[in-house]
Amino acid sequence: MSNVDCVDQSDLVIEGLLTTSDSSGDANLSPMGPRIDIPRKKMVLRPFKTSRSYANLIETKSGVFHITDDVNLIARAAVGSINPLPEMVPIIDTDAERLRDTCRWFLLELVSIEQEGERATLNLDILKMGRVRDFTGFNRAKHAVIEAAILATRVGILPDSEITSQMEMLRSWVDKTGGISEHDAYSFLQQFITRKTKSLSPINVR
Ligand SMILES: Cc1cc2nc3c(=O)[nH]c(=O)nc-3n(C[C@H](O)[C@H](O)[C@H](O)COP(=O)(O)O)c2cc1C
Repeated sequence: MSNVDCVDQSDLVIEGLLTTSDSSGDANLSPMGPRIDIPRKKMVLRPFKTSRSYANLIETKSGVFHITDDVNLIARAAVGSINPLPEMVPIIDTDAERLRDTCRWFLLELVSIEQEGERATLNLDILKMGRVRDFTGFNRAKHAVIEAAILATRVGILPDSEITSQMEMLRSWVDKTGGISEHDAYSFLQQFITRKTKSLSPINVR
């Protein structure tokens, strides 16, 4: 049996969920896509400087990244605040907490920052990591929800026609291969996109 870790590919961006807090303990959950270098215990995150995740990481120097297949949570966290957060559990021998339901988790400490561009590059050490449960496996509907969540964060940036046509294509993958949770997440994102597109349309701009 191989001992190779399935995320020993530091050239991949792995989409997951990052929890951070500000210095008063106010917690935040956001989808992020870092590169993870397990052998060197390093992670590189590229948050927009306008994001709460960025502000919290700068303020407290710490966060927890989660690898999860819960695309419904990823969808909802991408476009709004999750409040209250899902159930958290303590990370043993630390003051930190992680999501109870996750496949893997990584406790992070910020070590350096590169500020160029609208996204910062944050270099983090992995202080601790753990496995909780298996990942579901490849599923086109789950991938479609991830893509739809990214599209939802781009309303007003990408042309509406591009978002509409991509959402249409993604819907067929959800219809063919998704379960209740993926259908629910897709509908939630479609409604969000429709509302946001309407609110940004020229008729509504005064
Ligand atoms: C799958 C996925 C990956 C994402 N990766 C990043 C990322 O690497 N950096 C980033 O700034 N935003 C990323 N986003 C967008 C943020 O999650 C989104 O802008 C969010 O609103 C930021 O939340 P925050 O302000 O609470 O940190 C991603 C979104 C999704 C759906």
